[in-house]
Amino acid sequence: MKHASVLAPSILAANHAHLAAGARTVQDLGLKWVHLDIMDGHFVPNFSFGPQTVAALRKGSSLFFDTHLMLDEPHRYIEAFAKAGSNLISIHIEPSYDHAATLARIHALGCQNGIVLNPGTPAEAIEPFLAQVDLVLVMTVQPGFGGQPFRRDMLSKITQIDRWRQERALSFRLEVDGGIDLTTGHECRVAGADTFVAGTSFFGATDQPAVVKAVASW
Ligand code: DX5
Ligand code: ZN
Repeated sequence: MKHASVLAPSILAANHAHLAAGARTVQDLGLKWVHLDIMDGHFVPNFSFGPQTVAALRKGSSLFFDTHLMLDEPHRYIEAFAKAGSNLISIHIEPSYDHAATLARIHALGCQNGIVLNPGTPAEAIEPFLAQVDLVLVMTVQPGFGGQPFRRDMLSKITQIDRWRQERALSFRLEVDGGIDLTTGHECRVAGADTFVAGTSFFGATDQPAVVKAVASW
């Protein structure tokens, strides 16, 4: 099956003194998803915000909170993000912990789950989990910072994961994150992606409604 395209702006690129205003901008444009980047200074060399901020955003927003945990020990924080109001929680494959149990725990807490892989991680690493997830997130930059250039060499990984999805009649969403704009996002759409995280290109756009319209037409 082919999912309709979803644009998930990352408020990492919004004004951090006014994150609620960033989320409001997304909602007022008629979008349904917002992407929340959580960084621990270990798994990635940067910090962002934590569950308390997510909970505060939840109070003023009905958006679908697509929460991307860039953490060395994500299993320790699943409950905190679920309680804070996340709708989907995605965890990286790279650190060692019980991935299957953590994905199951996300479901048990009433959230959708996702598995994420870095540019240097082969698609085969997440293959055993495909039947268990609602979303696969292919990083198209090394995570940690917004504003990096899109890694075109990730397109074949997207194609591979989409092929497995079709062969196995699975229905997880296939999301891309990093350096996504209307050009690179469309290349990912052609390769099989359906969910598009955009930070810099979205919050820096002069005509955001045009961006929303373009992605909806993919
Ligand atoms: C990267 C984050 C991304 C980031 C994308 O570490 O996971 O979600 O916000 O930002 P852009 O769209 O600027 O590459
Ligand atoms: Zn992200």
